[in-house]
Amino acid sequence: MTQDSTTIGRLYGVGVGPGDPELLTLKALKAIQAAPVICVPQAVNRRESYALSIVKDYLKPKQEILRAPFPTDDAEGAAQVWREASGSVVERLRIGQDVAFLTEGDPMLFSTFSYVLAGVQELCPEAPIEIIPGVSSVMAAAASSGVPLATHGQRLAILPAAYGLDDLSKATSNFDTVVLMKVSPNIVKTLADLEELGLTGQSTYVRRVSTDREKVIKDVTSIKDEDLDYFSLLIVKGNPTGSKE
Ligand SMILES: C[S@@+](CC[C@H](N)C(=O)[O-])C[C@H]1O[C@@H](n2cnc3c(N)ncnc32)[C@H](O)[C@@H]1O
Repeated sequence: MTQDSTTIGRLYGVGVGPGDPELLTLKALKAIQAAPVICVPQAVNRRESYALSIVKDYLKPKQEILRAPFPTDDAEGAAQVWREASGSVVERLRIGQDVAFLTEGDPMLFSTFSYVLAGVQELCPEAPIEIIPGVSSVMAAAASSGVPLATHGQRLAILPAAYGLDDLSKATSNFDTVVLMKVSPNIVKTLADLEELGLTGQSTYVRRVSTDREKVIKDVTSIKDEDLDYFSLLIVKGNPTGSKE
């Protein structure tokens, strides 16, 4: 029997925001509550999926929770997890079930959703896909700290953990604002680099933004071990030449 394309479910890539359940969009809420299957990424070293914990009070009884437990230190192992997760998602789509894949913040910024999106597009190109943007931690951190990311004519860069003194020096010479994400494993080195570049006084650390564990630290030299968290970032004001105020 050939598959009738009208019976294929829809994959939703849903951004659930940085932590406060009230930062979910109405569109995200609707998609989450209507989907029979909720798929969540879950780092193996964490007890619960952060994205799922954000929406737990909005879930309906009888929704299937499909977990994709991925290793954080093994790229090949993680690739295998995303292949399997894409396969499991496609199985549900092919029987007509919609699947909402939850992602903290926004699904198109440093998100595991990208891997599942690619996997589903490859395995089932006919599956309809809808991506619902979420409030990114970058935007929420700017709001909580009161540090504007960019004003007229200014430039903004968002960098992942893989940077060093040279990268940081180049980025802060070229951009008015540099957001450093996934900063916690390298925080000691990063703080030393910021000090060397004379940028300590222009940096703000934001942890667990929008949650009851939120902390905004403007004097980054005072960051202590207990302030460190995977869910943290730095907003660094650069010194670019030739940028417009
Ligand atoms: C895999 S990325 C996910 C980014 C996410 N898609 C977004 O749009 O915010 C994880 C990184 O995002 C940042 N992050 C996510 N949630 C955060 C929060 N509530 N507070 C501060 N930083 C957060 C941290 O830098 C963390 O290491």
